[in-house]
Amino acid sequence: MTEIKLINSPFVIGGKIFDSSALIKRVAQFYHSVPFYKPTPLTKLVNYAKDYNIDGLYVKDESQRFNNRLKSFKATGGLYAMACCIAKKAGLEIDQLRYSQLQAPEVKKIADKITFYTATDGNHGRGVAWSAEQLGTHAVVKMPANSTQTRAQHIAAFNNTKVEITSKNYDDTVKFATELANQDPDGILIQDMAWPDYTEIPQEISGGYSIIVNEILNQLPEDEYPTHLFLQAGVGQLSSGIIEALFSSIPKEKQPLVTIVEPDTVACYYLSAKKGDGKSHTVPGSPQTIMAGLNCQTPSLISFPVIRDTANYYGTLSDEAARQGMRVLARPRGHDPKIVSGESGVAAFAFVNASLQNHDLREKLKLSSSSRVLVINTEGDTDEQVYKDIVE
Ligand SMILES: Cc1ncc(COP(=O)(O)O)c(C=O)c1O
Repeated sequence: MTEIKLINSPFVIGGKIFDSSALIKRVAQFYHSVPFYKPTPLTKLVNYAKDYNIDGLYVKDESQRFNNRLKSFKATGGLYAMACCIAKKAGLEIDQLRYSQLQAPEVKKIADKITFYTATDGNHGRGVAWSAEQLGTHAVVKMPANSTQTRAQHIAAFNNTKVEITSKNYDDTVKFATELANQDPDGILIQDMAWPDYTEIPQEISGGYSIIVNEILNQLPEDEYPTHLFLQAGVGQLSSGIIEALFSSIPKEKQPLVTIVEPDTVACYYLSAKKGDGKSHTVPGSPQTIMAGLNCQTPSLISFPVIRDTANYYGTLSDEAARQGMRVLARPRGHDPKIVSGESGVAAFAFVNASLQNHDLREKLKLSSSSRVLVINTEGDTDEQVYKDIVE
């Protein structure tokens, strides 16, 4: 079934309700000092947009982030947050942080003593392992029981990282990584999710994602700013990071309508919106979805309020809708370029793709011939075999 669902937000406040411009500036300054940093492409699917009678369909292609050993957006958060941790230990000014400072021999010595601990279902751990290699520090990555060997091998391929698939579910794996970090006097937990008493590093991770918005705003002329933004959410840190950066950077009248998209089996934001009490709710049980990066049962503490107060719609999609989206991007129309998009990476596009074929959803989302839709392809073929099986 390619089913998708959509509800209006019961509590959107809208407007400029926060200002993250200082953080966004810091992140941009840092990335512009990284010698191997390069913006990812913002791809316009002209023929696709024409066929579906919208003004534009833009895909920010994070499958090409940093290099082909990562294939997802995740390291934009991990690298920045780890750099901040090392800088703080070395007594450096975070506000002025430049990559070259982290390469100084006395800072490298400090980095070499630190071990970063994390739990991951794949992409975050891969970003942390790669960042550990770049920064000359160490990482211990724990994965939940249902993780694929391929994803573990991708993480193990980096120097300085130890990886293990545990017998635990995701939440217990996070607790395990937290305990290990607490037991190690030189350990730091680098988790892409916040909870009470653990917010500073997740905020830096989410802040790191803002480089994606910085690039988009440089790549798009003002009269092509999106009218609609669709964001896939796991714990919501990507979405809140993107919304904060975008809403802090553009005037209120240019802010797009925001739709949060989740797998139908594990939709904690959709559930929370349905309950409508303004609080975050957890999806119970052990849900399954092919969208592994979005298989998150509880919203991140720092992300929930941002999303609650800004998102206009919440949608869910089935695994089959995601597979169809992957095939559409793999077999483009006319001169549109091919985009390699993995199961979680495609979710927002797949939701748009299904919505555009449904008259009622088009109306509900206010999609028309003057709409410009922006989605982020958050991952490429992070598990090559799974990608091939679905697309071919
Ligand atoms: C490819 C991909 N897209 C989207 C997400 C969602 O990010 P978040 O959990 O911050 O909502 C993830 C998370 O791991 C991911 O791996």
